[in-house]
Amino acid sequence: MPLVGTKEMFKKAHEGKYAIGAFNVNNMEIVQGITEAAAELNSPIILQCSAGARKYAKHAYLVHLVQAALEVNDIPIALHLDHGPDFETCKSCIDGGFTSVMFDGSHYAFKENIKRTQEVVAYAHEHGVVVEAELGQLAGIEDDVKVAAHEASYTQPEEVEEFVKETGVDSLAIAIGTSHGAFKFKPEQCTRNADGVLVPPDLRFDILAEIEKKIPGFPIVLHGASSVIPKYVKIINEHGGKLADAIGIPEDQLRKAAKSAVCKINIDSDLRLAMTAGIREHFDLHPEHFDPRQYIADGRSYIKELVEHKIKAVLGSDGRAPEIMALIK
Ligand code: G3H
Ligand code: 13P
Ligand code: ZN
Repeated sequence: MPLVGTKEMFKKAHEGKYAIGAFNVNNMEIVQGITEAAAELNSPIILQCSAGARKYAKHAYLVHLVQAALEVNDIPIALHLDHGPDFETCKSCIDGGFTSVMFDGSHYAFKENIKRTQEVVAYAHEHGVVVEAELGQLAGIEDDVKVAAHEASYTQPEEVEEFVKETGVDSLAIAIGTSHGAFKFKPEQCTRNADGVLVPPDLRFDILAEIEKKIPGFPIVLHGASSVIPKYVKIINEHGGKLADAIGIPEDQLRKAAKSAVCKINIDSDLRLAMTAGIREHFDLHPEHFDPRQYIADGRSYIKELVEHKIKAVLGSDGRAPEIMALIK
């Protein structure tokens, strides 16, 4: 089937109390690992590319890799621009085959964010492409934009209705305590459970509930939602890596979010950790190997394993491909 937008995905995800995983892609093996997992579980999926991914791999390679994944796997796939920094980048993706774009004006003042988002929405909708925008700022690093924890701010529920109405946007990313990267919390921000495992503070489900009241049924997006799975961090550190105090969002929190109006959950850091774990382990166990197909394949296997786990344990989107295909056909 051809690439799809996210309207039908979000409608079904909302009704069915699950979420669609939006996974960042930068090369062929990442695309393969994610889509093989999704196809085996008959799950819809969003593949997203950041400006950094387009700079690294080039737009044409990314689009054609995703097209190839569609030829091989019979599942609904949307191709999305992650954190579009300006109108030109969004336009280039809209003109170049993406079915969904994010314009990230979250660092602008409210009115300026509305104005810039409106321009993207007008162009995108003319071309049948959907738009995600963001209100509130997450901490962490996105390409060249680093938002310090003290500058991050939660989404203000009293702003969302006006923002959604004025911009005509199709989904809204909100800030309720997630952040980008593999070091989301400092150990001193966490408590220890009975097994001695560090547990970060809960997401602000109270803010999410307020937002849901203001814009009932509207699709909400969670960025910065990697859980930083200890298994992959451990493999990395056991095979020469040095990742101290990597802490993510606990999976029970994400599962709870997926059952709410949160229809899209963004995952990148977990993919990076899985790929790095596979490659580091391979190099350590097979120092005589130098064929990239051998070590990158191990990274790809861990990505596939990770995405299978996410779909089943966090997103709840397994087996949901047919209901979305039925809406589109
Ligand atoms: O939210 C940011 C994503 O993890 C993309 O990261 O800009 O380094 O490709 P990137
Ligand atoms: P993580 O860094 O938590 O994987 O977040 C990724 C993301 O939000 C991409 O937009
Ligand atoms: Zn993000």
